[in-house]
Amino acid sequence: MLHPVVLSGGSGSRLWPLSRQNQPKQFLSLIGDHSLFQETILRASALPDTGAPVTVCADDHRFMVGEQLQAIGVANGAILLEPVARNTAPAIALAALHLVASEPDATMLVLPADHLIEDVEAFRDAVARAAVLADQDWLVTFGIHPDYPETGYGYIDRGDALGEGGFKVGRFVEKPDLATAEGYVAAGTYAWNSGMFLFKAQRYLDELARLAPKILEAARAAYAQASTDLDFIRLGKEAFAASPNDSIDYAVMEKTDRAAVVPVSCGWSDIGSWSSLWAVAERDDDDNRYEGDVISVDTRGSLVRASDRRMIATIGVEDLVIIDTPDATLVARKDRVQDVKMIVDKLKQAG
Ligand code: GDD
Ligand code: MG
Repeated sequence: MLHPVVLSGGSGSRLWPLSRQNQPKQFLSLIGDHSLFQETILRASALPDTGAPVTVCADDHRFMVGEQLQAIGVANGAILLEPVARNTAPAIALAALHLVASEPDATMLVLPADHLIEDVEAFRDAVARAAVLADQDWLVTFGIHPDYPETGYGYIDRGDALGEGGFKVGRFVEKPDLATAEGYVAAGTYAWNSGMFLFKAQRYLDELARLAPKILEAARAAYAQASTDLDFIRLGKEAFAASPNDSIDYAVMEKTDRAAVVPVSCGWSDIGSWSSLWAVAERDDDDNRYEGDVISVDTRGSLVRASDRRMIATIGVEDLVIIDTPDATLVARKDRVQDVKMIVDKLKQAG
């Protein structure tokens, strides 16, 4: 059976001031009524022949996760609570250990909680094809056609065809610099790594044992000390804190020779910044996206989001992002929104 595993541990700092430490972006309703986390759970639960979703998140977010699952009426599978964040390689290890404990040949579909997928049929079809390859012991990732040289993603060069429309991964490079990314986009044979993975849980653990044994050891020790509290499974703190901090991309996918890629065209986007949210949102004839009480004259290409407390008015501006919240307002050029992270870092320094 296929088990969806939803990774929900990120903080989404580039969506400040809406996302905050205790309210990360995956729990916000950015587009439509549901949060990105709820959308991910609903999408996964609608796949054929799947188990209840396993969520891996920070201990601090347990009630938000519990409430959001309840609000959409999805039976929660396990909710694994990380005492500290150690990035995705150990988080996925916890889910894998949990699954093999009751089903040694469990297959897992790892899904980040902050992605948008417009064409669910295409996604479903790719999952079915990837499941066939996972059955043959491949660690499968889903490849997205790269539109521009994004440096925040992993890049995959395809090797030999494996059937099911998939390929062996020729090369996997996580977050290359701009010149390298430009070369990959120009080459025409590279895909972005979507960050969604499908593999047998045991196969992932075997790769960790070979490539990142310290991560496996820490996850194993933390899981052995786990305590159960309602649907929550709380991992051993000191044991988990001993894990190296590393992502699945660096720790496993760049190094393994068992990686495969299934290209998919499903309207995928990673809602990483305000400009990516603007890009996927419905916009008016002047390319604006307004939310809340906004009034404008001669405004183009902008994202303006008013909070409940007041109206926002704009005149003669272009390509701006304006986000108002009760205690902070962001005004930025749309091509500079990656730097929102710098504001968050400054705020952290200021304590
Ligand atoms: N539970 C848990 N614990 N989840 C985590 C942790 C953690 O410590 N760290 C990150 N996550 C979750 C995030 O919430 C997100 O849903 C997902 O794991 C991926 O983490 P990101 O931090 O968003 O990774 P990224 O965007 O820099 O890079 C990954 O995704 C890209 C596509 O969006 C990589 O897989 C890239 O190769 C890929 O291109
Ligand atoms: Mg991401």
